[in-house]
Amino acid sequence: MTKTQNATQNISVPNHNLEVLRKHFSHCFDKNGDFDFEKFKKELATHEINFSKEGYGMDWLGKSYARLLASDPARTLLKEDKEWNKKPENKNSDNLLIKGDNLEVLKHLSNAYHEQVKMIYIDPPYNTGSDGFVYQDDRKFTVEEFQKLAGVDEEKAKKILSFINSKSNSHSAWLTFMYPRIYIAKQLLRDDGVIFVSIDDNEVAQLRILMDEIFGEESFVGNIAWESKTKSQNTKDSFNKLQPKVEYILLYTKKDQRRFNLIQKGEKQYPLNDDRGEYRDYPLEVMNADGMRGRESMIFEIEGISPPQGKQWKLGQDTISIYKSRGDLFVRDGKIVLKMRPDDEKSELTEPFWWLLNKEIGTAESAKKELSTVLENNKHGFETVKPTNLIKRLVFHSATTNDLILDFFAGSGTTGDAVMQLNAEDAANGKGGKRKYILVQLPETIDPIKNKTAYDYVKNELGIAEPTIFEITKERLVKAGKKIADTSGFKIFETQPIWEDYEFEAEEFNSQATLFDESKLSAEGVKTLLTTWKTFDNIPLTQDLQEIDFGGYSGYYGNEKLYLMDVGFNTGNLKKLLEEIDNNPVFNPTIIIVFGYHFESKSLREISENISLYANKKSIDIDFITRY
Ligand SMILES: C[S@@+](CC[C@H](N)C(=O)[O-])C[C@H]1O[C@@H](n2cnc3c(N)ncnc32)[C@H](O)[C@@H]1O
Repeated sequence: MTKTQNATQNISVPNHNLEVLRKHFSHCFDKNGDFDFEKFKKELATHEINFSKEGYGMDWLGKSYARLLASDPARTLLKEDKEWNKKPENKNSDNLLIKGDNLEVLKHLSNAYHEQVKMIYIDPPYNTGSDGFVYQDDRKFTVEEFQKLAGVDEEKAKKILSFINSKSNSHSAWLTFMYPRIYIAKQLLRDDGVIFVSIDDNEVAQLRILMDEIFGEESFVGNIAWESKTKSQNTKDSFNKLQPKVEYILLYTKKDQRRFNLIQKGEKQYPLNDDRGEYRDYPLEVMNADGMRGRESMIFEIEGISPPQGKQWKLGQDTISIYKSRGDLFVRDGKIVLKMRPDDEKSELTEPFWWLLNKEIGTAESAKKELSTVLENNKHGFETVKPTNLIKRLVFHSATTNDLILDFFAGSGTTGDAVMQLNAEDAANGKGGKRKYILVQLPETIDPIKNKTAYDYVKNELGIAEPTIFEITKERLVKAGKKIADTSGFKIFETQPIWEDYEFEAEEFNSQATLFDESKLSAEGVKTLLTTWKTFDNIPLTQDLQEIDFGGYSGYYGNEKLYLMDVGFNTGNLKKLLEEIDNNPVFNPTIIIVFGYHFESKSLREISENISLYANKKSIDIDFITRY
């Protein structure tokens, strides 16, 4: 198969729902590929599915815009920090720190990391009025474009676009910002994955309904209250109101919440096993009979045994009879023993997790000090840091050994620190903790006047000409790693805008007439395209492509895909390439992708024809894609 793709400008989140519909309800699509909703509804009705009549939902000005943002293609490419990534400590790392707007980054990750992430933690702007949140967006849709893309009338399109451009910090603006990010993030979660979102009173109500809409109300697991302040502060706004002392962390699962077990194996051990699964011995304890607890009902005979004088059984007759009926009750040395299984203790173990006391976890204040300790100075200027213990606790309960953890509002990088610390603790206990992280952080400018100390720190001590918060994230990760002798390192990538003159329709492109001006596309630019494309083609960012030589021309190979990016490919190179397929047992490309701008159309034809005609010894079917 031969085809032409304009991938560079079409990196968007794949619509997996549509794939599911096409697969299972192909008969509900007409011959033009349009979906017949009425037919689908009838089909569902025959399966006795009830349609909700409640008509309840969430709407805000900008919702259609927010939906569009979730499906609109990325406007950037992904570039690697070559110098950083080839350092010995980073070169084999599975951790990532990505610089850029997280909406762009999430779009880039949406193929290679589809359903790969076990746990997401985010700590977005709370929209407190003083945290600097304003809605900003450089997508410049015209009224006509927006009308067409969002399917709204002219009047509504004008109203929404004017709202989007107004730099607002209303609830609507915040929701418009959050919706597409959380929507895409969900696609990255594994089926057994979970997401935790930090928030405070300003937006907790909006967030809860937004999360219900995106994840489904059934996926709500709970709301964790974290006492973030030891002392209340009287502010102008809170005068005459209750003093805010807690922040919240909303917890949702990707799918069915029964799949998610907050109990970390190892907290309670179930060392024994029978055909019904794991269990531990539980001698049925007795406790003092105190009348208050319904003494009569807790004192009875089981298997001819009664509790001693003045004592009572710890469990009631009904509960004990459940153990008995399932064969999990026996007598040993004159004592009653139950087989206690993980499910029996679930509620008891999950309960305390919903209230995280500051003594154990730390507060917003202690977290700032903690960051100063890690950075070995107090010049960071961060006001919204989370304590590492808080994030460690969340990670501990939701991600084990090799799981991937994502935080796309990284801030000072607490999540990366927490992951490294947990891995180190695992290693100290003889367990192989190799959790991996992906952190995303905007290169948000540090204000040289309002935040002078942090600005000077990044400029003078870290040597960065234009100080941004990203540099603090990076420094924290390095220093936090050193502190605990972590050697996992991390790789850095960043988004960059697509080159301005990269605008054309691939189908109309005539390579002989207008070969892309090479002086604009440096060798580094070609590498950037390659990084972006490989991620689009499902190859993880941390996986390097293998460079293969075809008689003086280098190709890049990984996951059965071969990329030919550079100029100068000739017939001799093609011959070598075909020989390599025949003779190299670990070189089995099923797709060859060439960068159209660097190939004459004659040469494209030659490669395509040879590939389809040449019967390679391994009988691999190879697709040929010319990509722009
Ligand atoms: C509340 S802070 C996170 C603090 C973090 N949990 C910690 O412990 O340090 C939110 C961070 O998200 C970043 N941010 C805001 N908008 C962003 C965006 N669109 N893409 C990436 N990062 C963003 C901000 O620069 C800020 O550093």
